[in-house]
Amino acid sequence: MNAVADAFAATAALRLRVAAVREIAADVRLFELRAADGAALPPWTPGAHIRMQLEGGLARSYSLCNTPSQRDSYFIAVKRDAASRGGSAWLHAQVSEGASILATAPVNAFPLHDDERAPLLLAAGIGITPLYAMAAELAQRGRRHRLHYFARSLGHAAFFHELAALPSGVSLHLGLDAAETEAALTAALATAGAHTPLYLCGPAPFIDAARRCARQGGWRDGDVHFELFAAAAPAPSCEGEGQGTFELVLQRSGARCVVQPGQSIVAAAAQVGVHIATSCGEGFCGSCESAVLEGIPEHRDSVLSAAERAAGRSLMPCVSRCAGARLVLDL
Ligand code: FES
Repeated sequence: MNAVADAFAATAALRLRVAAVREIAADVRLFELRAADGAALPPWTPGAHIRMQLEGGLARSYSLCNTPSQRDSYFIAVKRDAASRGGSAWLHAQVSEGASILATAPVNAFPLHDDERAPLLLAAGIGITPLYAMAAELAQRGRRHRLHYFARSLGHAAFFHELAALPSGVSLHLGLDAAETEAALTAALATAGAHTPLYLCGPAPFIDAARRCARQGGWRDGDVHFELFAAAAPAPSCEGEGQGTFELVLQRSGARCVVQPGQSIVAAAAQVGVHIATSCGEGFCGSCESAVLEGIPEHRDSVLSAAERAAGRSLMPCVSRCAGARLVLDL
């Protein structure tokens, strides 16, 4: 069983029907998904994603971007990535109204925390999707928040008009380069004040810049919540990546096997009867984190900090591998 099949087998799979598709910004399509049998869908909270099974054994995670009170549909917004290896390109080119798709029930690795302080939401590009759901939920609960949205142009800013109509509105930053983005982030953080709960979503350079600015502004790590739009490192199945084999020892289970080129640790462990619980399967949610007892991890996730990576005490087995010949995990 490969990692994709494993993730779907381990989670209650939903058969969904594409009820509508529409273009909502440049290269961004909104897909409305309903249960194939017309039943109510499992509940979710803002920040949650579903993982969809796509063509050719691919699986991709997409944040839900409607409101949780809508129990009959899930909305996902998908940006067509020019470098797509089948995920967004396939959804844009092949999936239209009436199509059937298999997905996991929603999982939330990026929840809004219960906190009376008004949060600051910082989004870049298609990273707006979970933050749009959060902003709508906060507005519905009558809770103050501030949202800054960075996009290439107004035509690229999905949900801008809906966000502008919310009571807290949105500060839109268009067409900024890296230095201008950092200056705008610094100004937004300074206005909010240190220790404001921070929620970040966007591509890796944006998350890095926002976290750096927050650290410089005195933020504690516990007040900074983030989700990358995509994993920072390529998945092991990428061409040219993950080509080495290594021995995997699962200490507590007493199982061992060889992880093949292009195979994930999760998939290899499943073959010897050890199930590792996963959620995103792409190295960004942290749910599969496993302790390393021996061996040098080759980190490919976007969860661990630089210090945690250097320490080598844990790894995300859905994407990470071993830099040497043998890896022993506390599983
Ligand atoms: S399942 Fe999300 S990091 Fe591994």
